[in-house]
Amino acid sequence: MKKTLVLKVNPQKPEIEKVRVAAELIKKGGIVAFPTETVYGLGADALNPQAVLALFEAKKRPLDNPPIVHVENISDVYRLATQVPPKAERLMREFWPGPLTLVFKHSDIIPDVTVAGLDTIAIRMPQHKVALALIRESNRPIAAPSANLAGKPSPTSAKHVFDDLNGRIDAILDGGPTRIGVESTVLDLSVSPPQVLRPGGTPFEALKKALGDVKLHPFVVAEEELPIDKTRSPGMKHKHYAPNAKVITVEGSVSAVVGKVRELTDSYRLKGGKVGVLATDETVADYKADVVKSLGSRFNLAVIAQNLFRLLREFDVEGVDVIIAEGVPAEGLGLAVMNRLRKASGYNIVKVE
Ligand code: TXA
Ligand code: MG
Repeated sequence: MKKTLVLKVNPQKPEIEKVRVAAELIKKGGIVAFPTETVYGLGADALNPQAVLALFEAKKRPLDNPPIVHVENISDVYRLATQVPPKAERLMREFWPGPLTLVFKHSDIIPDVTVAGLDTIAIRMPQHKVALALIRESNRPIAAPSANLAGKPSPTSAKHVFDDLNGRIDAILDGGPTRIGVESTVLDLSVSPPQVLRPGGTPFEALKKALGDVKLHPFVVAEEELPIDKTRSPGMKHKHYAPNAKVITVEGSVSAVVGKVRELTDSYRLKGGKVGVLATDETVADYKADVVKSLGSRFNLAVIAQNLFRLLREFDVEGVDVIIAEGVPAEGLGLAVMNRLRKASGYNIVKVE
């Protein structure tokens, strides 16, 4: 068991001496969690294979699922990637720093373990002062998957990181709750047209506007487990975002969803289960369950994205046996929300008219 140092930092004006403590740990091959605008990341020196291996071990992540490499300036992309197409240059100018991860062919400075033996690398420039300061002070690219134990919902606060990883990592930079709440959008530019491998904080609609032609990988909108092309979408086969409770997602028109959620709630409670309902502001008063929580208004999908992972974790703290979750519109940030909910449910989806 390690001693995990927790350093509170000002998210707007990070105290440089605290960032330097964390950066020194990274330089020595240590593992440090830090806030980004999406979720907390678990960082290690991307160019140090031992450090990256320790990172996989700390979060119990399978070695075939590579982390995203975080940079603080665009010139680093040219060191890490061999081919940077003009489309990527445009996207970096428009969307960086921000919640967009781009997949490139990688150069030979990057250790195999960092890219899980693939010939590609996923890179992003985060839009969070603490993350940018940490990369700058460490003076190297930082490999950082989300800072949760593998399979759990991603952490949107330092407390979530602490709950999963206390004693397993060197430090946590606590910069308060994250703003976006779902991870970055992962875009593959090595195919034509470009393809979204994971929906996230940069809406698909914004990419369509910027690129004209862009497609969603079938995984993004899958309603069941699909066969996996590991080289394109290495992380897809692993269990994701799952709270301890069983999750059921109910999708359809709002009135039909409310009816079905009520029916499922009653049947699980009759069987003696402790039932949680994940509702929205418009429907929360319609339910009588053991625990009812609202994600926010159906008219504000950004707030719903912000709350999603925190509420999934809260249901576990309450010890519910089953979480019955309302679907929300799969547009804007709602596409990422629905992708995470469907995966959290293991594709246990009930459709109603
Ligand atoms: O917002 C985020 O992206 C957060 C913060 C910390 O930046 N990070 C994050 O990392 O969500 P992680 O490791 O939990 O998810 C990385 C995703 C996985 O789905 C992984 O399979 C995919 O990126 N990925 C990594 N390298 C890839 C590659 N070479 N080709 C395709 N997908 C890749
Ligand atoms: Mg993750």
